[in-house]
Amino acid sequence: MSYIDIHGHYAWGIDDGVKDLEMAKKTLSIAALEGIDTIVATPHFTSGKTTKEDQEKMIARINDLKALASTYNIKVLQGCELMLNKDSDEAIEKGIYLPFENTKYMLCEYDVTKPTQSFLNHFDDYLRSVRIKGYKPIIAHVERYFHEGIDLDYVQYLIDLGCVIQINTTSVLGLGLPVHTQNAMKLLDANMVHVIATDTHQCEGRRVPNMQKAYDTLIDKGFSKTYAELLLSGNPNHLILNEEIEYPHYKRSFFARKFKH
Ligand SMILES: [Fe+2]
Repeated sequence: MSYIDIHGHYAWGIDDGVKDLEMAKKTLSIAALEGIDTIVATPHFTSGKTTKEDQEKMIARINDLKALASTYNIKVLQGCELMLNKDSDEAIEKGIYLPFENTKYMLCEYDVTKPTQSFLNHFDDYLRSVRIKGYKPIIAHVERYFHEGIDLDYVQYLIDLGCVIQINTTSVLGLGLPVHTQNAMKLLDANMVHVIATDTHQCEGRRVPNMQKAYDTLIDKGFSKTYAELLLSGNPNHLILNEEIEYPHYKRSFFARKFKH
């Protein structure tokens, strides 16, 4: 199976992701080995900090990445990971953001170092400026905002607002904090995950292209092949084609839910 990674910092030298050309080559070769054939390049855009000039540099580097990735038979699409904060209205007014290329979808995040209460208090407000412009927010790594355990009602509220919910492969693989994995598993069991992506930052360590490993882990934990394929390939494909996503409705066996966390 081929995978589509809709969240990754593969475009080198422009944020805290891949550092240079050499590392970009290594990262792309790992992505190819993992069966990734399409990447949305999503460099960090921080509302209030990222300038129009920065945006031009990022677009140029994404174009460099497109050329480089084609030698690995990987297609790259333009995007960003927009940090929502009190300055988002102004940043969006100024056009400092990049939706997924030729689509209405835009990857949005909140500061993961802030307390969960801050996320609960402000995030939906900040989302409004994205939605008013007609974009459909994809919420990046939702499992990372809930430091004391997931609030499924709040995630359902985000889904009801029309948001797409993304979690990271690192959380599926148990490579982050234990609470992130617990949150991810609860979201998966509640059918509240629409897409899984790598949030790649490096060519070694935790945040690497690891979609095949995430697929294998999902199967090992008792999720169906159909569910794993939907989250790692089917829905990502809908997003890049500007189509509606499919809402999952799967159930793990009682045994798997009880013993395979
Ligand atoms: Fe990211």
